[in-house]
Amino acid sequence: MPPKLPIAVLISGSGSNLQALIDASASDSFGCSIAGVISDRPEAFGLDRAKQAGIPTRTIAWGDFDSREAFTEGVVIAARELGAEALILAGFMRILTASAIAAFPNAIINVHPALLPAFPGAHAIEQALEAGVTETGVTIHFVDELVDHGPIITQHPVPILAGDTPETVRERIQRVEHELLPQVVSAFGFGSIAVDGDTVAWDHRFEVASS
Ligand code: GRF
Repeated sequence: MPPKLPIAVLISGSGSNLQALIDASASDSFGCSIAGVISDRPEAFGLDRAKQAGIPTRTIAWGDFDSREAFTEGVVIAARELGAEALILAGFMRILTASAIAAFPNAIINVHPALLPAFPGAHAIEQALEAGVTETGVTIHFVDELVDHGPIITQHPVPILAGDTPETVRERIQRVEHELLPQVVSAFGFGSIAVDGDTVAWDHRFEVASS
């Protein structure tokens, strides 16, 4: 077995995607080890999930810093202290500056609840419903200097059905995220995903059993 890539998972809230990563990381065939969990909110439930799993946690509270740059530096220092070599943004609701990308080049992955470039930002599900589209989805991508932007690793569609509410769409999207994100993170840990400029190459397609 090759050594596992140590990752930090960054969260702001419930951490259901973190839980999917924790569950997947129990397997020998998972390509990463979760070195730590970083939250910008001390009350994030994901911190409890990490503690339950015996994973070190750090809170880098947004309000403790006077600029986005200083906050980003705090996150980078915490991630390095944890021994992380890559960052997984799993429901992390803060925007990091280019310093994070310089510190972890081609090694920051984000999961977004829409088919980017459609519906970037914090209200992607609500905006998809308001727009009346019949399909949205999940995007997993490398992070660059722009918000919800960067080389796309994989996307998976999710239908919007008559009578859907933000909650029902979120539930459908998260079912996909919880399958897709661990597959991508594991493959990244094994070095199977390469990014060169805007192009991502990987040696197999990720699969979602149900959507
Ligand atoms: C996910 O749906 C993700 O797409 C978005 O934030 C949500 C986080 O949910 N960026 P959770 O904290 O993992 O439950």
